[in-house]
Amino acid sequence: MATITVHDKNFEPYLSVEEIHSRIRFIAHQLNTDYIDKKPLFIAILNGSFIFAADLFKELTIDAEICFIKLASYKGSKSTGHVITAIGLDMDLFGRDVVILEDIVDTGKTLHEFLPQLRHQQPSSLKIVALLHKPDATVFPMHIDYLGFSIPDKFVVGYGLDYDGLGRNIPEIYRLTE
Ligand code: IMP
Repeated sequence: MATITVHDKNFEPYLSVEEIHSRIRFIAHQLNTDYIDKKPLFIAILNGSFIFAADLFKELTIDAEICFIKLASYKGSKSTGHVITAIGLDMDLFGRDVVILEDIVDTGKTLHEFLPQLRHQQPSSLKIVALLHKPDATVFPMHIDYLGFSIPDKFVVGYGLDYDGLGRNIPEIYRLTE
């Protein structure tokens, strides 16, 4: 496959459709085992996770619910600093087995700030599924319970991930060329 251009930058093929889907089937198999009879609630974080969430959810054979939320960040007061709120989270998490679906964990800041808000609602368990993780970019370390791929600290696009709004519709994952 050839190099592609998104906006002003060039990207090279990195993860193929087959690699992505086979890894998703593997994760789904684990979830089907771990969450049998638990009716988990999946919370997919938009925008980047919409394709990943759909493909993973189709592979689940257990009873499961899914909802989609968007995280908005804004500057709070001096004491609260930077605040992240969830738009569209209208489910009661109390006593539920909750599974977060994230496209990519980069610095870890987003989840680091958002997870305490979910824990506050006292779910009976809270786990994280991420398609991609850049360990070398970590600023806020966190445990990812189900991980697709651990990747180098290079910008990627495709499969739902964008570069400045574009590239989400590319079926494979491409990474920035040197
Ligand atoms: P974090 O808070 O630094 O972990 O960033 C998480 C968010 O940044 C992801 O949900 C993505 O929306 C975005 N992001 C981080 N790295 C990339 C990348 O390589 N390509 C596209 N989006 C990215």
